[in-house]
Amino acid sequence: MVYLDSVKKSFRQGPHKTLPVLRNITFHAPRGKTTAIIGPSGAGKSTMLRCINLLETPDEGVLRVAGKEIRFEKNKTPSPLSRLHFVRQREILDLRRHTGMVFQNFQLFPHKTVLENIMEGPVLVKKEPPGEARAFALALLEKVEMSDKKDSYPATLSGGQQQRVAIARALGMRPDVLLFDEPTSALDPELEREVLKVIRTLVEENNTMIIVTHNLFFAREVADFIAFLDNGELAAYGTPAEIFGKAMPKRVSDFITAMSPEDYAI
Ligand SMILES: Nc1ncnc2c1ncn2[C@@H]1O[C@H](COP(=O)(O)OP(=O)(O)OP(=O)(O)O)[C@@H](O)[C@H]1O
Ligand SMILES: [Mg+2]
Repeated sequence: MVYLDSVKKSFRQGPHKTLPVLRNITFHAPRGKTTAIIGPSGAGKSTMLRCINLLETPDEGVLRVAGKEIRFEKNKTPSPLSRLHFVRQREILDLRRHTGMVFQNFQLFPHKTVLENIMEGPVLVKKEPPGEARAFALALLEKVEMSDKKDSYPATLSGGQQQRVAIARALGMRPDVLLFDEPTSALDPELEREVLKVIRTLVEENNTMIIVTHNLFFAREVADFIAFLDNGELAAYGTPAEIFGKAMPKRVSDFITAMSPEDYAI
């Protein structure tokens, strides 16, 4: 469902310096499976996820999502007013439409109710008839156990409730792949548990998901595959049994030992 082939990304650090953040990432997230991305802070996990929905533009490499492919070539970023630029922007929006993103800090629209937050994208972007969008939004609110808050504003909800609404909003766009960036790291353990419960339901329904998480216990429990990112490189990839097993490179096993799963409640 999602392919990255030799993706590179650097950030500018002042006029003459660049910081390579993704060095050469080749990665595949299969349809209907959950892939967790783990690794130290600063490894490039968020950047990798943001490259998948093109919130960041890779410098080089190939990205394919739901059969749509975009190639990025070094020094070939089209100039802002060129025809090629508009073609590229169209491709980006088209590809992004296949993804749904859930952020660490929820990012709901503050001036819209819970129900409006979920209906906005389907009605305005996908031009769904409001009646249909509303019925689907209500069904999604039931799924995330937030029906009773449909007319509330985000500021009146707990972090866990806001995140469950954010998940419903992402699902409202009927994405082919759901991307989560540390969906529970802003939450207290109790609120984290209610969000993880919703994510676990989505795993059981065989949604295609990519989850960046610090919660190794959760990754081990729910992911079909785990990618370990370190210093901009995919240092390891495998099933949870493989990643948590013995035959891993030292930097992987050291990280896992340091972030002992026993420290993480679910
Ligand atoms: N927009 C940006 N401009 C410049 N540097 C950036 C930008 N975004 C990220 N970086 C840098 O890229 C590196 C990787 O950042 P990234 O956020 O992808 O790491 P991460 O693995 O998600 O870390 P964390 O676990 O702390 O969230 C870091 O050194 C960060 O400072
Ligand atoms: Mg991050």
